Amino acid sequence: MSSDARPKRITFVGAGNMASAIIGGLINDGVNPSSITAADPSAQAREMLAGLGVTDLHENPRDAVGNVDVVVLAVKPQIMAEVLGGLRGAFTPGTTVISIAAGISIAMLEDWIDSSDVHVVRCMPNTPALVRCGASGLYANKSVGERERHYADVTMACVGTTLWVDSEAKLDAVTAVSGSGPAYFFAFMEAMIQSGERLGLSHDEAAELTLQTALGAARLASEQNIPIATLRRNVTSPGGTTEQALHAFQAEKLDHVVGKAMDACHQRAEQMAKEFK
Ligand SMILES: NC(=O)c1ccc[n+]([C@@H]2O[C@H](COP(=O)([O-])OP(=O)(O)OC[C@H]3O[C@@H](n4cnc5c(N)ncnc54)[C@H](OP(=O)(O)O)[C@@H]3O)[C@@H](O)[C@H]2O)c1
Repeated sequence: MSSDARPKRITFVGAGNMASAIIGGLINDGVNPSSITAADPSAQAREMLAGLGVTDLHENPRDAVGNVDVVVLAVKPQIMAEVLGGLRGAFTPGTTVISIAAGISIAMLEDWIDSSDVHVVRCMPNTPALVRCGASGLYANKSVGERERHYADVTMACVGTTLWVDSEAKLDAVTAVSGSGPAYFFAFMEAMIQSGERLGLSHDEAAELTLQTALGAARLASEQNIPIATLRRNVTSPGGTTEQALHAFQAEKLDHVVGKAMDACHQRAEQMAKEFK
């Protein structure tokens, strides 16, 4: 399969934040808006897509999912069963269906779609997709072929990196790392800004320095082939200021706090899947 083979037609069911981020990414990548269809009962959501140049817009998803290569399910998990119930028999055989809904398993999706002729891929994106700096975890059963995986990959790659996992259960770990991860960094940045203010900086000064530091640290870690622990040691001179800060983190068992938070997230992801059943 040519690495630049793309789906010719792609439909979005649900045109909210995540769908519009992906559509924006596709168009930015050179996809013609005329090859994109979307369905959403919200006139505001449809207007937003019209602003991106998408013209094939529908109120009812049933009018949008037939005769396309890829359907992205981008509605809230709570209404997925109802939405797919309304789409029974509407999918064209061979369609690749990508669900980005948290906690909805492939078995549930297949059951609700009620067709053995579609290829279901589950994806867990994250909100930095809005600025095309997302991280998406993807999973599909072995029955899903190379072409369908490729379609899912190129669709999500337009808003960031893609990582395929080899078991569906790992998507709960993806949720704990990258799905919810942006919020952990936001919480850490909020705490740094507050402390910066307490130490005498204005809010704006502390925010500017914190954001640039977060961005710089992430870029340094991702662009240089140096282990993160080495980068940390490189800024930690013995007897210096950073060492004092890191000792304080260690005293509060930062790794334990982060581990507990991620365990709680992971457990909630598992529990949500049971609730949706
Ligand atoms: N945001 C994240 O960080 C994130 C991360 C990973 C996964 N996800 C998943 O992405 C999915 C979408 O999230 P989002 O943040 O983009 O939500 P969102 O902004 O609320 O978008 C969902 C859209 O679906 C529309 N909708 C409601 N009923 C519909 C129907 N019957 N047919 C078609 N569209 C319908 C909603 O319209 P109304 O507003 O009028 O109801 C809304 O415009 C969710 O399943 C979520 O779990 C999100």
